[in-house]
Amino acid sequence: MIDRTAFVDRFGGVFEHSPWVAERALDAGLAKPLTVQSLHAAMVEAFRAADYAEKLQVLRAHPDLAGRLAIAGELTASSKAEQASAGLDRLSVAEHTRFLALNALYIQRFGFPFIIAVRGLDKNDIISAFESRIGSTPEQEFATACAEVEKIARLRLDSLLPGETYDSH
Ligand code: GUN
Repeated sequence: MIDRTAFVDRFGGVFEHSPWVAERALDAGLAKPLTVQSLHAAMVEAFRAADYAEKLQVLRAHPDLAGRLAIAGELTASSKAEQASAGLDRLSVAEHTRFLALNALYIQRFGFPFIIAVRGLDKNDIISAFESRIGSTPEQEFATACAEVEKIARLRLDSLLPGETYDSH
């Protein structure tokens, strides 16, 4: 039997600030033994089954890349590690200015922050993706952002459960 509190403590942040995704995945019934793959599939199913407003809330729960919260040191541990892995904590003033301008344009156009699974990307890849995605339609971009959130969840689960299965804790 999986302990609900321990489970949500451990996996509640896999979807940024949205523990309800882990809770709903648990309530829907999880296969045993739980693997990264099966847990990710269950969480993705709960996320996809959510309504538009709930998904939008998940997108809006993400901090800007290289944004105010990052500068103030107020990111979740996962976001901090992700942003640092792409070098976003070591931008030149010009690069940082570019990020701030893109962040502002993007959020004005779409109503949620630019989200991208940054593992394996560097700042130039991210700026290229940013510049290209800013030209998408709102519908396309909503779908792309949700897909990126699912990828980020997979990467977070890979770090939380490196090569192990999750049983009761
Ligand atoms: N991609 C990976 N981590 C993050 C994050 O913290 N914020 C945004 N906007 N995208 C991300």
